[in-house]
Amino acid sequence: MERKWWKEAVFYQIYPQSFYDANGDGIGDLQGIMEKIPYLKELGITALWICPFYCSPLVDNGYDISDYYAVNSEFGSIEDARELLKCANENGIRVILDLVINHTSDQHPWFQEACADKESKYRDYYIFREDVSRLSQLRSNFGGSTWTQIRDGSWYFHTFAKEQPDLNWENKVLRKELYTMINWWLRQGVSGFRLDAITYIQKDMSFPPVEPDGPDGLCDVMKHCLNVPGIEEKLLEMRRETYGRGDFVTVAEAPGVPAEKLEAYIGENGFFSMIFDFSYTDIDIWIGEAWAKPKKWSVEEFKENLFRNQRLVRETGWAANYLENHDQPRSINKYFAGVEKEQMEKYADTMAKALGTLFFFLRGTPFIYQGEELGMRNTVFSTMEEVNDVNSRGQYERALLEGYTEEEAFEAVNRRSRDHARCPMQWNDNVNFGFSTEKPWIACNRICSKQTVERESQDKQSVLSYYKKMIRLRNHSPYAETFVYGDLIEVVYGNYELLAPCDEALFLYTRTLGHEKLLIICNFTDKQAALPECIDIAALEQAQILISNYEEGARSVIRPYEAVVYKLDF
Ligand code: GLC
Ligand code: CA
Repeated sequence: MERKWWKEAVFYQIYPQSFYDANGDGIGDLQGIMEKIPYLKELGITALWICPFYCSPLVDNGYDISDYYAVNSEFGSIEDARELLKCANENGIRVILDLVINHTSDQHPWFQEACADKESKYRDYYIFREDVSRLSQLRSNFGGSTWTQIRDGSWYFHTFAKEQPDLNWENKVLRKELYTMINWWLRQGVSGFRLDAITYIQKDMSFPPVEPDGPDGLCDVMKHCLNVPGIEEKLLEMRRETYGRGDFVTVAEAPGVPAEKLEAYIGENGFFSMIFDFSYTDIDIWIGEAWAKPKKWSVEEFKENLFRNQRLVRETGWAANYLENHDQPRSINKYFAGVEKEQMEKYADTMAKALGTLFFFLRGTPFIYQGEELGMRNTVFSTMEEVNDVNSRGQYERALLEGYTEEEAFEAVNRRSRDHARCPMQWNDNVNFGFSTEKPWIACNRICSKQTVERESQDKQSVLSYYKKMIRLRNHSPYAETFVYGDLIEVVYGNYELLAPCDEALFLYTRTLGHEKLLIICNFTDKQAALPECIDIAALEQAQILISNYEEGARSVIRPYEAVVYKLDF
């Protein structure tokens, strides 16, 4: 197994507008991230993924870029960005940025020029058509048609909001401009990128008519514009012209890459170092359908998806494991959705630690999303006016259009809104949890008043202390080598190695390297579960417990939401 710095890294994802507001205007900023470097260092993480802070009208919170070379003034300046990169690097923390190149903002000068002048060279940087009536009628990812008309009567294509026109990747000059920009950032000291919505860049430019799949007469854009053949050459070219030239890391947002294509994506000479898998994080929704459409899922299915990804990636490359990100609700609410309020209060911390354990020790690089290390939960919205997220608003409209009641539509937003993850980070008990002295751009979480860095730093039993311990175990313990480079074998339950039938509630896997074997056990339910027969209980009783979310680690019966990691002796 080839050693790589990014395989050994623990990533921490920062949503800059919600992390820390240093200059007191209610919105987080780069200076704020800089001031919190000591916290990040103490936590033990070794790399940051910072969400977009480029110039942007913030229609989609920065995923609509109007200038790739500048920092949005609300976040700071390009000097701040350089200083932040320097400060992080000096503290042993690498930084990767979000690369949003499937689309720009409609305020980008390229698009402005393209709209103002049909003859402009920028017209072909985007996808314009004079008449779209006989072309594919697709539903954009945030709802409504992918075609929007401009003043001169022509139409442009957008996979996401209408303020996010798609770039025309067939245009060589445009591609070159993007590569120049990427290389410029690499020279500023970034260690790589997270590639946003990258599997959308290729389209069938003839946009053939398609069957509608909803009452709006449109068809899901994902069905026709995701992983379109021909994308391979473009991804290879980009790699060759930019980050392929150095020891950089790339992690791609690439839902739906089929198994047979994985080698091309993350194999030895793949387009990227890693890709994010969505099969387990989107387990509670129907891909491409309204959030409001009910979906039942089982622990079994979740287990199947999680380990399927591990198995597939094991053959080809390296996984990017994550519980949460800026597009997902908080993991406790998602994975333990049916749990009664009382039980939730009782077990929330235990649940957070169990989920953390399950994910953190999988084979691959762990990504922690800000606030996850505190065990933050979803907030609650009382009206649609309180919801900021462009996707949530689109989803609400769509649900109504599809015949769901207002209550159902709103319930879905409360369950799934991306705003849950975007509430301010909670530092202390001061006003706005110490995030800002001014009214924050987005309301603070109304549910988690105790989950703050200050409180949890002083509490050895806190979720934060547990995360610190997990990070130390993975990176700075005698077992680090096995946690990072060891093989993963799923011990039981119908997947990788069928050793014995096992309680559905239990997740069991081992990480092995040479003569070392670590066993990870996690109970996903509030019921006690018995260990399967293949586990030698007598040996377990002798085994050393490396970490556990109960004071006394597990023996033969695994308690509600219990998680434990053993070092097994052969
Ligand atoms: C990705 C981002 C998301 C954004 C979208 C459009 O899915 O993670 O936040 O809205 O792309 O750029
Ligand atoms: Ca600020």
